[in-house]
Amino acid sequence: MAVTGGRAAGSLEGMQPTAVRLTALRRVHRDVTALDGVDLAFAHGSLTAVMGPSGSGKSTLLNCAAGLDRPTSGRVEIDGTELGGLSERRLTLLRRDRIGFVFQAYNLIPSLTAAQNVSLPLRLAGRRPSRAAVREALARVGLEERAGHRPAQMSGGQQQRVALARALITRPAVLFADEPTGALDTVTGREVLTMLRRMVDGEGQTVVMVTHDPGAASFADRVVFLVDGRVAGELRTPSAEQVAARLAALEPTRGAGPDAVAGTVAGTGARAC
Ligand SMILES: Nc1ncnc2c1ncn2[C@@H]1O[C@H](COP(=O)(O)OP(=O)(O)OP(=O)(O)O)[C@@H](O)[C@H]1O
Ligand SMILES: [Mg+2]
Repeated sequence: MAVTGGRAAGSLEGMQPTAVRLTALRRVHRDVTALDGVDLAFAHGSLTAVMGPSGSGKSTLLNCAAGLDRPTSGRVEIDGTELGGLSERRLTLLRRDRIGFVFQAYNLIPSLTAAQNVSLPLRLAGRRPSRAAVREALARVGLEERAGHRPAQMSGGQQQRVALARALITRPAVLFADEPTGALDTVTGREVLTMLRRMVDGEGQTVVMVTHDPGAASFADRVVFLVDGRVAGELRTPSAEQVAARLAALEPTRGAGPDAVAGTVAGTGARAC
């Protein structure tokens, strides 16, 4: 079977119902328009990479889609529920139960074990996950042997996998990941990406991840490009080379100032994964 970036060929993505729908999404921070009318839908059981120059709105897009930030206008629907119509309390509940989020920095509590880190969000919400549920969450990321270890006793990749287990213990409708491999070396980053791919293919998990790395994006079913807060095209099941070529074509003109340089492929390509 042909495989690109660990991705099995012949995705059924087009046949799956929608997990996340963004309609005419705008987010203005004072005088900065971070998102300028974004329309996107992410299918259940698909892995989508969001790419674009620094400052193009990728994190803002993820934060709005995950209910961490309120858009200035437009709609966000998760599994058919529109977030804008929810009270703060109901939005908090939906975030807790239906949405997972991982960041570049793993954000684990250093003094807690892997198992305690995984169960913490649910405990804070007044629920007590069973030992079996925590063990299963760690087993899904291949860390059942590490349940009693603290973050400092684990590699970066293992810590990110604990963060994944923590985000996925509620079996969310969608997992958002903002540069999940940005702090990892290439090999460790590939391990995390392979794990995400396996969750999409084996469990039907929906994943939307921001990345600067064409190699990481090649694990996705679909790569969406953002420029200046707008969708600037997409690729389906691309190779890393195809992604890199498209990014180069989107690159702002060199010499237009420090921001333009920071947004170039050369400026971001140094980040592993
Ligand atoms: N809280 C904020 N207040 C003011 N401006 C903001 C805020 N958050 C983001 N912005 C601006 O919105 C734009 C988009 O930012 P965003 O963080 O979404 O970009 P990004 O594509 O994730 O960039 P990077 O690749 O560097 O992480 C940028 O111009 C940024 O400076
Ligand atoms: Mg960002």
